Amino acid sequence: MSDEAKLWGGRFQSPVDSGIHRYTEALSFDRRLARHDLIGSLAHARMLLEQGVLERADACTILEGLGSLLLDLEAGTLVVEGDDEDTHSWIERKLGERIGESAGRLHTGRSRNDQTGTCLRLYVREALVHIGQRGCLLQAELMDRSRGHLETWLPGYTHLQRGQPVSLAHHLLAHFWALDADAERLRRAWSSAGTSPLGAAALAGSPHAIDPERSAELLGMERAYPNSMLAVADRDYVLEAAFACSVLMLHLSRWATEVILWTGSEFGFAVLDDSVAKGSSIMPQKRNPEAAEILRGKTGRVVGDLMALHTVLKGLPLTYNSDLQEDKESLFDALDTAAASLECATSILAGLRFRADRMSAALVGGFLTATDLADYLVRHGTPFRSAHHQSGLVVQLAENKGCELWELQVDEIRDVCPAAEDDVLECLSPEGSVRAHSSFGGPAPVRVAEQLEAADAALLSSKGWIDGLRDSPIYGAFKSGTLTAESLV
Ligand code: ARG
Repeated sequence: MSDEAKLWGGRFQSPVDSGIHRYTEALSFDRRLARHDLIGSLAHARMLLEQGVLERADACTILEGLGSLLLDLEAGTLVVEGDDEDTHSWIERKLGERIGESAGRLHTGRSRNDQTGTCLRLYVREALVHIGQRGCLLQAELMDRSRGHLETWLPGYTHLQRGQPVSLAHHLLAHFWALDADAERLRRAWSSAGTSPLGAAALAGSPHAIDPERSAELLGMERAYPNSMLAVADRDYVLEAAFACSVLMLHLSRWATEVILWTGSEFGFAVLDDSVAKGSSIMPQKRNPEAAEILRGKTGRVVGDLMALHTVLKGLPLTYNSDLQEDKESLFDALDTAAASLECATSILAGLRFRADRMSAALVGGFLTATDLADYLVRHGTPFRSAHHQSGLVVQLAENKGCELWELQVDEIRDVCPAAEDDVLECLSPEGSVRAHSSFGGPAPVRVAEQLEAADAALLSSKGWIDGLRDSPIYGAFKSGTLTAESLV
């Protein structure tokens, strides 16, 4: 590559060593930022034109050149490849090849330092919306699967020991709400990425009459940087996006463990459809929940990505340092893995057949309503500590007789629990217990029906956020290349 074709070289007498070039180049992994970089450049050129920093003829040539590159990239007729240092250098070279000398005027009032932050922010925003969309699909599937199971009873577990009866809908919706918190975290990370660094240039802004707030507005960002030095040094939005992905992955991995347990013969609460299970190369009978295991395994990668990012950033002095180029691969991996894992989780869930018979069998033999007996006695005036003790004695009685709590005689119970009345057996069946647990957010079917309504509203709000963005011109530009010279000039 000639010195002129490179972004720098005036003061250099010999070319960079090829090994050093290979080691330091970014094009092999930052090529996915090309569209975002073009959009950043379109906004920059338009701002320069509006401010009179660029002459109209040059600005229009640049805008048209950038627009044509964007369209060709979208159409797949242009591919990002070459020996360029990074995607920014590649674009500048391509623009030069298309429009000649005017291309050299685009870099007025900016540097690759603010440029790389700008396109990375645009990329992060697009990726977070995409993850948000996939999250909504999984949440919708959880709601759909819950609807038919408000009265399918199973044990709820603490310490992985049977604890108290709940409904399957209540259990599934617990995962829905964890994902709702993830949706909120994605939105917050999206908002953090909405500070435009464009115009901070290398670190000290510019002597040209640039308007960073206008650049921010053109990019659909909420604000311009308040400090040019921080603008090019800041990667908080990268950490926040990776953090949102890592918590999301933790949630998916916890659910994946339940899929693995539930589909094993010890639990047997669910069966995996053939389409989401895998076989063994030696044991013909096996149906392994491999997708769920791999999902759980990939969680480690994303947590590692987050750690890698923290470690890259730790101790970096102001402002831009090339270490920051190392933000990309970990970030991309976290975003890609979260999106792919959500899709995989949705397929696994759709391929799960629940076994209500096995769930109800697990409610037998474990005296899961012993707490209900204690609570009943408390309602009839017994202090909780004594009620707990008396209920324990009743469990012992049932265990010795080899029967369930609800199969005891009322008189037998009353011998140990003086406060027990004739209706005591009602709260001792699993169904009676769940129905009685009607406190706010509890498993009683009336409460779960309300929960489903609240879940509907939460999902609608997440979808509304995504749809609102989809209607904005900047998001449309990512999707269809509509943010061309025509729409900008
Ligand atoms: N490829 C670089 C990155 O990803 C772009 C910024 C380069 N700036 C510089 N002064 N070398 O961070």
